[in-house]
Amino acid sequence: MSAAGLRLPLPRLGFGAAQLGNLYRVTTDEEADGAVAAAWEQGIRCFDTAPHYGIGTSERRLGERLRGLPRREYLVSTKVGRLLDPGPGTGDDHANAFWVPDDHVRRWDFSEVGVRASHQASLERLGLDRVDILYAHDPEEGPTEQAFAEGLPALARMREEGLVGAVGVGSKDAAVCTRAVRTGLVDLVMLSGRYTLLEQDAARELLDACLEHDVQVVAVSVFNSGLLSRPVVPDGATYEYAAAPAEILAHARALAALAEDHGVTLPDLAVQYPLRHPAIASVVLGMRTAGQVVSNVERMGQHVPEAAWEAVAALEAEWAERTAGARDA
Ligand SMILES: NC(=O)c1ccc[n+]([C@@H]2O[C@H](COP(=O)([O-])OP(=O)(O)OC[C@H]3O[C@@H](n4cnc5c(N)ncnc54)[C@H](OP(=O)(O)O)[C@@H]3O)[C@@H](O)[C@H]2O)c1
Repeated sequence: MSAAGLRLPLPRLGFGAAQLGNLYRVTTDEEADGAVAAAWEQGIRCFDTAPHYGIGTSERRLGERLRGLPRREYLVSTKVGRLLDPGPGTGDDHANAFWVPDDHVRRWDFSEVGVRASHQASLERLGLDRVDILYAHDPEEGPTEQAFAEGLPALARMREEGLVGAVGVGSKDAAVCTRAVRTGLVDLVMLSGRYTLLEQDAARELLDACLEHDVQVVAVSVFNSGLLSRPVVPDGATYEYAAAPAEILAHARALAALAEDHGVTLPDLAVQYPLRHPAIASVVLGMRTAGQVVSNVERMGQHVPEAAWEAVAALEAEWAERTAGARDA
């Protein structure tokens, strides 16, 4: 059983709203309208956001677009750990990867008071009276010990008080997620970039721990910074938000060729791959436009022949051997 014995009925595909907060570039209001409307039309009923995403912009824009939709039909997750204070408003937030004015600044706070204040501020920005899931966001980047000593117990108490349905940790750091799972306090892990078609090693111990503690995993950043988001991998493709190293590019291209051989595409494999692991309940994709929503729904519904997955496993084994050989050399 997970901490609360709670298993939310998570859909296989969820909508990641960091892009509504202008992650890496501006998402226009028209694009945001189209993306959320298309998500709803396509049957997506789970939306993820955070105060961090555009220093409140994502939560505000998502809330505006969900308004009027039947609240009982969808799930919303947001995150705690960074409180938003008024900012100078004279510059921008590019240093944090968001194309918004710096009218707010982030302040780490995983104390119980901070976590509850963050939750309340998120509800106000979203215009909702409850969120379904609250994650401790990126504890490895902030006051990690405070997140474990105060933040996670505070989240668990909020769940017991009925303020939120489920609680978890959201991070790209598999070790921090494993530590959170072993506290017995969390129901969910949102794992970024560590269990994808391209890489799995860092997540193995975590996923075992999740199975043991009955913790559900939501896999995100499954395109590995865009590397796997298109059928053809271009020369300038990025990995971990920088130009992809040659061997990573070659591996992604080998996966793209394998996909083509089996009548599917690289992104078809990328969106479905994580769900083949029994610990992973859902994949949340960042979607900026209606077109991306429609194509991602198609990718998730695409029939992938078992032979393709067998070929992926064979390539993984070959890759693991080659990288182990390179490490030992
Ligand atoms: N620590 C955490 O808890 C954490 C960390 C990371 C992410 N998340 C959550 O997970 C969500 C997704 O993560 P992510 O944004 O890192 O990664 P992602 O889903 O792997 O990538 C999203 C990007 O892929 C591109 N894309 C999506 N659909 C596409 C399509 N159909 N065709 C072509 N390109 C497509 C878009 O690129 P363009 O921008 O170029 O249009 C989009 O911005 C976030 O929005 C957030 O909600 C949480």
